[in-house]
Amino acid sequence: MSPSQESRGGATKETIDRLIVGANELATPIGPHPRSGGAMGLLRVIERGALAIHGERIVAVGPERELRERYAPREEFDARGGTLVPGFVDAHTHPVFATTREHEFELRTRGAAYVEIAAAGGGILSTVQGVRAASRETLLERLLVHLERFLALGTTTVECKTGYGLSLEDELKCLEVIAEARRRQPLELVPTFLGAHDFPAEYRERKREYVELVCRAMLPRVAERGLAEYCDVFTEQIAFSLDESRRILERARELGLGLRLHVDQLTPLGGAELAAELGAASADHLEHVSERGIAALREAHVVPVLCPVVPLFLRQEREAPGRKLIDAGLAVAISTDFNPGSCNLQSLPETMSWAALRYRMNAAECLTAATLNAAASLGRSAEIGSLDVGKRADVCVLDVPNHRHLVYELGRSPVRAVFVRGRLAYAR
Ligand code: NIG
Ligand code: FE
Repeated sequence: MSPSQESRGGATKETIDRLIVGANELATPIGPHPRSGGAMGLLRVIERGALAIHGERIVAVGPERELRERYAPREEFDARGGTLVPGFVDAHTHPVFATTREHEFELRTRGAAYVEIAAAGGGILSTVQGVRAASRETLLERLLVHLERFLALGTTTVECKTGYGLSLEDELKCLEVIAEARRRQPLELVPTFLGAHDFPAEYRERKREYVELVCRAMLPRVAERGLAEYCDVFTEQIAFSLDESRRILERARELGLGLRLHVDQLTPLGGAELAAELGAASADHLEHVSERGIAALREAHVVPVLCPVVPLFLRQEREAPGRKLIDAGLAVAISTDFNPGSCNLQSLPETMSWAALRYRMNAAECLTAATLNAAASLGRSAEIGSLDVGKRADVCVLDVPNHRHLVYELGRSPVRAVFVRGRLAYAR
């Protein structure tokens, strides 16, 4: 539906569905492409900026005064002196699980390491037991609770990985739960198949067979049924080797899936180089990425998706070289990595604060990383990730006076309202 014309007091105004007015500031990265290096810090900032929405699209962005002259909105939303930014895009989460691991968190505060806990039967495999035992209904119910929280925290697009099923049946069950959740709530979900998250207990001594199960049984079914857009692998000393990862990811690529990888998180295995070699959409974590790995990612235009809260949550000192990756000219994205083991956090605003403090990123770079660049890593930067005319109207109304407060204030959600596809989806 295109906006209609209406004459009011002599001047002709276009009738549109909605104007978001009353903001102190509108701040957004710009354009349909990821922003790299120095361009990550270049935002469009409009004082007293407003947004015109028709249907599910943004039809104009500009000073409120100008938009009021041009448009006759059916509805106005008052931002009450707050800030308008794009809906946040979380490009890396593991939200399909049934049981939690608070005891592991406590063990780490007493000095236990993530890999020790995993080797002793905790870790990913303990969540796998919970998922296998859970019904579809239970998993769906939990996922919907997680999604409601994402929305209240300003996230409008969530990449959702499986990876706690690790059998054909249980991986399909998790993907079907994601597909059902897509129909039940407003957030856009991007499903990722992570059947190679770990070797399940029954294949510990038969690793080659598990890799073949993923390649010959799981991936073809997932692709044939269109249940996932991406395939991910945990490439790590305690998980899948470079060769095992390559075999799985090449198969996934043949079947038409995009690729994302967990790489160089706990050890410097050279996973970034593999992500570049395979032309992956993203290379995630990167705490131990090498100089060669950084150069390879840049050459291949792979988006590094960093997870700044994970080392904190795992009490690990080593962090991804966030500043260095930006200065090397990459288009960095940041994500929560929400999962029950290594990061029980759903807030991208909080994640941005940590990125600022740990990686020395400024507020503009953090905002670009959690919106446009994250969208680009999901192949969606022409559609979402910025407040540009023609893009989908996924918008966050923050109750802070400017975008710098997004990283400056910790511990309280700054999100007052969220629009998804032009409709008010959350308000407090
Ligand atoms: O991204 N690194 C692998 N996977 C998750 C952790 C999953 C878990 O511990 O349950 C991560 O950190
Ligand atoms: Fe992860």
